[in-house]
Amino acid sequence: MAWVPVCSVGQTTPDEGYKIESEPPIAVFHVDGEFYAIDDTCSHGLSSLSGGYVDGCEVECVWHMARFDLRTGRAMCLPATKDVQTYPVKVDGDTIYLEVSDSIAATISEVKR
Ligand code: FES
Repeated sequence: MAWVPVCSVGQTTPDEGYKIESEPPIAVFHVDGEFYAIDDTCSHGLSSLSGGYVDGCEVECVWHMARFDLRTGRAMCLPATKDVQTYPVKVDGDTIYLEVSDSIAATISEVKR
C-alpha cells in the first residue's frame, strides 16, 4: 500500500466528483469539507460515479439511479447489489492523497496541479 498524491483541493468542487484516471478509476468527492474516494465505476454497470448526483454523503449513479454511501462504499438501493471499494484519503496543504495498492499507485502517473 502507498499514499499517492492524486489531485489538488482546488481541482475538486464541493458536491461533485473528480475522476482520477487510475486503473481502476477512482472518484474523489468533496462534501462538507471532507473528502471521500470510491471506485469510479458503478458496481451495476459501467457508468462513472464521478459524474453522479451527490446528496449528502451519497452519490447517485446517472444511469439507473443506484446510490452509494461515500463513507463506506455501500450500495444503498437497487439496482446495485454490490458495494464499491473505498480508499483512505488525507489532505496535506492543497494536495489530496489516496492510500492505494502498489498496483493502483503504479497507474497514477502524476499530480495534476
Ligand atoms: S450503471 Fe449505475 S445504476 Fe446502473
